[in-house]
Amino acid sequence: MSQKNFRLQNPETGKDQELPTMSGSVGPDVVDIRGIYAAEGVFTFDPGFASTASCESKITYIDGGQGILMYRGYPIEQLAKESSFIEVAYLLLYGELPSGEQLDTFDQSIRTHTMINETMLRLFNGFHYDAHPMAMVAGVVGSMSAFYHDTTDIQNPRHRDIFAQRIIAKIPTIAAAAYKHSAGQPFSYPRNDLSYAGNLLHMFFSVPAEPYEIDEVAEEALDLLFILHADHEQNCSTSTVRLAGSSGANPYSAIAAGIAALWGPAHGGANEAVLRMLTEIGSVDRIEQYVAKAKDKDDPFRLMGFGHRVYKNFDPRATLIREACHKVLAKLGRVDTPLFDLALRLEEIALKDEYFIEKKLYPNVDFYSGIIYRALGLPTSMFTVMFAIARTVGWVSHWTEMIADKDGRIGRPRQLYTGPVKRDYQPITKR
Ligand code: CMC
Repeated sequence: MSQKNFRLQNPETGKDQELPTMSGSVGPDVVDIRGIYAAEGVFTFDPGFASTASCESKITYIDGGQGILMYRGYPIEQLAKESSFIEVAYLLLYGELPSGEQLDTFDQSIRTHTMINETMLRLFNGFHYDAHPMAMVAGVVGSMSAFYHDTTDIQNPRHRDIFAQRIIAKIPTIAAAAYKHSAGQPFSYPRNDLSYAGNLLHMFFSVPAEPYEIDEVAEEALDLLFILHADHEQNCSTSTVRLAGSSGANPYSAIAAGIAALWGPAHGGANEAVLRMLTEIGSVDRIEQYVAKAKDKDDPFRLMGFGHRVYKNFDPRATLIREACHKVLAKLGRVDTPLFDLALRLEEIALKDEYFIEKKLYPNVDFYSGIIYRALGLPTSMFTVMFAIARTVGWVSHWTEMIADKDGRIGRPRQLYTGPVKRDYQPITKR
């Protein structure tokens, strides 16, 4: 608790109410308004939560003005350079970097839980071949609550840990099954001798008819993207997981809710939307026209991959990804280089434009991630699924933190009601 207090005056009674502030380890203080309704009979109003800290958390810190992102205090730049996705997953889940032995045990546990119940595979046959993979993944992850209900006593820390490791291990398998279903190819079973990213590439791209060799550049790029996407504090999907989980709901259902929230184009669906937008723009000479559309108040079009609720200077993940993008395209030498050139030109034009400067709209992580996924050979509809695989670690870490908090309460916001006041029911003949 900080020493500073905010004073709120009730205009009707003239009475002052002292509102205590709380300080985190870093970042702005928060005004504790929990007692305000009981004392003053008023709610606070912040529909997009732009000024609201919805919970206390020790996992991820963002300073949007400075472009800082840290997982458990470690800067994202250091983790991207020195760490691996599995180590980052351990860090986010358990709070500290693992010792060599702890990392081996964790890695081994994730590797040996990659298979899914065979019956779950049959669920995919219920989906049409052109079902969006995010719909399939959300549905099948939700179904895990029916398959693994033996270990979902959420008050039991061991059960929580089994859930965490199970979902992290199995989500790539579910994603790959969705992809194979769309592609009309046989499912490739996981290979536990491969890394997390390597196994994912194997499950996506290997076919029984010929040997498949994992490209190290692709494996490295995927691992980096997963690190960058692993967590982002109280974003829309993580808040959804927390809210759904706060009722004591089955944790797999809470993750499925997070996947559904991530799918939206304002959130994780932006990487897919960026690729569609770049394809629609098509050539450098049409960029100006699309920038003008984005600036037009009467046109709902937005430049996808630009802007962020929190980052108002630059998105540190975008800086790291931009470099990786160059590397991947250079090494893989894929045909999409013109698309990347178009993206760079769009970035250049938008960054010099008064509208984007004034509104502090910079390219975000999703501006580049889709280009890498495309270079790896993934279809556009799978991009957000890739994001979901990485973010599962963040969702699970936040869910675990929330459930382990003994003072936790169900999330239940209030509202500013602007509907009709009381009126009497009229029989249909009188309406
Ligand atoms: N293109 C054109 N104008 C924009 C854009 C854009 N991409 N983003 C924001 N604006 C304008 C917006 O019209 C508004 O203008 P005005 O003040 O005149 O009404 C102003 O900038 C502020 O926008 P906002 O919608 O109030 O900002 P927000 O914080 O609510 O939304 C956002 C943030 C990311 C949803 C939004 O910038 C956006 O829709 N961007 C495109 C989608 C996108 O790339 N999303 C991925 C986010 S990063 C990955 C993730 O974390 O999921």
